[in-house]
Amino acid sequence: MIQLTQKERLLLEDQKAHEELCILKYSSYAQQAKDPQLKQLFTTYAGQEQQHLDTVNQILAGQQPAMGSGQQQAQPPPPGPEGIGRQLAADAQNDAAICQDMLSTEKYISATYDTAIFEMIDANVRQALNHIQKEEQQHGEGIFNYMQSKGYYKPK
Ligand SMILES: [Fe+2]
Ligand SMILES: [Fe+2]
Repeated sequence: MIQLTQKERLLLEDQKAHEELCILKYSSYAQQAKDPQLKQLFTTYAGQEQQHLDTVNQILAGQQPAMGSGQQQAQPPPPGPEGIGRQLAADAQNDAAICQDMLSTEKYISATYDTAIFEMIDANVRQALNHIQKEEQQHGEGIFNYMQSKGYYKPK
C-alpha cells in the first residue's frame, strides 16, 4: 500500500485529468482525421493513454503500479510517401491542425510529468511515471515524424 502525501495526490490528480483529456482528444481526432494512417496512429495512442490513466488511477488508489502492461506497445505505422504537391487541400489542412494540437498537448503533458516525478517519494511510482513520460515523448515523435512525412512540418 502506498501512502501518498497531499502534494503527490494533487500532482497525480492533475495527471489523471491530463490523461482523460488525451483519451478524449485522440478518440475524437481519430474520427475527424481524413488520412487513414493518421486515424490509425491516433487510435493506437488513445489506447496507450488509457493505459496511462489506468496506471495513475492505480497509484491514486494506493496500489503499486503494474509496470508490465505497457511493454507490448504497438509501433506507430511507418511514415507514408512524401506529400504530393505543396498546395494543401482542406482535408490536409485539417489533419495538420489536429496534429499540431496534439503535438502541443504532448509537449505540455510531458513537462507536467517531469514536475510530478520530482515530487514522488516511492521509487516504483517514479519509475511508472517515467515510463509514461517516455511514451508521451514517443507520441510526440510519432506525430512529428508523420507531419514531416506529409510536409506539414519543416524543421528549420
Ligand atoms: Fe498519456
Ligand atoms: Fe501521449
